Amino acid sequence: MTKKGFIFDLDGVIVDTAKYHYLAWKKLANSLDIDFTEEENEQLKGVSRVKSLEKILSWGNKTLTDEQFKGLMAAKNEDYLNHISNMDEDEILPDVPRVLQLLKEEQQAISLGSASKNARTILDQVNLKSAFDAIVDGNDVSKAKPDPEVFLIAAEQLGVNPKDCIVFEDSVAGVEAANVANMISIGIGSEDVLGHAQYVFKDFTEISDDFIKSLINN
Ligand code: BG6
Ligand code: MG
Repeated sequence: MTKKGFIFDLDGVIVDTAKYHYLAWKKLANSLDIDFTEEENEQLKGVSRVKSLEKILSWGNKTLTDEQFKGLMAAKNEDYLNHISNMDEDEILPDVPRVLQLLKEEQQAISLGSASKNARTILDQVNLKSAFDAIVDGNDVSKAKPDPEVFLIAAEQLGVNPKDCIVFEDSVAGVEAANVANMISIGIGSEDVLGHAQYVFKDFTEISDDFIKSLINN
């Protein structure tokens, strides 16, 4: 049996921080008189902070000076950090601990592969840091998803060949990144949005121990 590499996105996969990103971006967009819907928010999932603000500005046909841009990025993050400062273990999504525990028992390699620069803060907040053999986040990459860089670095840190890696992702860009990296992509969310993933589950409660074991053994 080869050891497999299991790579987890963070926001929307391990914890439901997508709702806090949404609230913070919406506040920012509305302050600029830009409309911001849940549908637009979907396009920001998995997308880096800089790229997200660029998209919002383009939707609203706005241009800013570098200084204004930086100021808004900082304001958004401050607002977001305020939301996450109240998080605790209760915000870990259902059955994520079961799957992490099973992978540990099966002695698999486990990494985080997140676009967020706040990933370590969040893992600390929900007390999950020790569940990971490697943590690769927005501070470690130069190219954002859908570029596969974040997952390829994770595979390297785990010492596992990319083709033996499995990625759990809730975003369109993240599933694309996993596919480009030649990894097995597992979408967490709706089939409508994540149809390009190899498997799609609504959430981890739908992922059985047997399915995880089949990924390990195939
Ligand atoms: C991703 C989120 O995980 O991280 C995006 O899905 C977010 O919504 C991105 O913009 C960057 O996060 P942060 O915490 O560095 O602003
Ligand atoms: Mg995500």
